[in-house]
Amino acid sequence: MNEDLRINLYEQAKEWIYKAGENIRLKMNGPLTVDTKSDAKDLVTTLDKETEKYLAATIKKTYPDHKLISEEGYGDELQTLDGIVWIVDPIDGTMNFVEQKRNFAISVGIYEDGIGEIGFIYNVMDDILYSARRGEGAYKNDRQLPALQDELLLDESLLSLTHFWLCDNRLVDKNNMMDLVQKVRGTRSYGSAALEFAMVAEGVLDGYLSMKLSPWDVAAGMIIVHEVGGITTAIDGGSVNMLRNQAIITAHPEIIETIIEQYLQSGK
Ligand code: IPD
Ligand code: CA
Ligand code: CA
Repeated sequence: MNEDLRINLYEQAKEWIYKAGENIRLKMNGPLTVDTKSDAKDLVTTLDKETEKYLAATIKKTYPDHKLISEEGYGDELQTLDGIVWIVDPIDGTMNFVEQKRNFAISVGIYEDGIGEIGFIYNVMDDILYSARRGEGAYKNDRQLPALQDELLLDESLLSLTHFWLCDNRLVDKNNMMDLVQKVRGTRSYGSAALEFAMVAEGVLDGYLSMKLSPWDVAAGMIIVHEVGGITTAIDGGSVNMLRNQAIITAHPEIIETIIEQYLQSGK
C-alpha cells in the first residue's frame, strides 16, 4: 500500500472510530432495543447497528472502491479479499455492553489483498485506543507497546479462554483442554475477543483461544498482535481465513507451538 494512502487511512479511521465511540457513550444510557440473532445469547442492540451503519456509510462515501466485511449487515458479501477491505465489528462484546456497560470495543482492520495493514481496537469506556500499522509497531494510545520477546514458560502463562471448548468436543479434546487449564498459571475470560487480542499485544495476557470467532472479531487484533511479535493461527496451526468463522488462537511466540501441538492438535 502506498504510504500516503496508508497514513490517510490511519488518520481518517482513527477519527471515525473516536466519533463512533463518542456517539455510543452519549446514547448508551438512553432507550436501547436489544434483539437476539442466531440464538438467545447472540445479542444485538440499536447501537451496534447504528455504529456499523455510520462506519459503513462513511467508508463507502470516502472510498467507494473499498470493500467492507462487517457483522450487522451493512457490509458486502465477499468471495475474495482482493483490493482494500475494511473488516469492522461495531461493538465487540455486545453482551458486556448490554449487561455491564463496559468492557466492549470497536474493532476495525484494514486489509489490502489479504494482508493486514492497519488495525484499531477502541475500548470505548476506558477511552483507550490500541492501533498498529504493518511494520511500524503497535500502540496503546500514544505509547508504543514493547515486543513480546521475553522467555515464557507455559506453566507461567496467563491464558484467556471462552467456555465454548467445554460445550463442544468436536474441535478439541476436553481432557486435553483440562490438562491445559491446569498446566498454565491461570485462565481468564473477558467477553470481548478484540480486547483479549489487545491484552495479548500488551503482554497482560499470554494467549487467547476461542472456538467461535468471526473475521471481525480478529481482523484488527491479528495486526496489532503481529506488530509485537505475537502469533495468531487457526487452532490446527493453519492460517486464519478472513472469509469464514474459525477456532483461533493468538499467543506469545514462546508458547503457541506447545499449546497447539500438545493440547489442541491432539484433539479429535
Ligand atoms: C463476541 C465476543 C465474545 C466472543 C464471541 C464473539 P460480539 O463478539 O467477542 O467474546 O466469545 O465469539 O462473537 O458478538 O460481542 O461482537
Ligand atoms: Ca465480535
Ligand atoms: Ca459485534
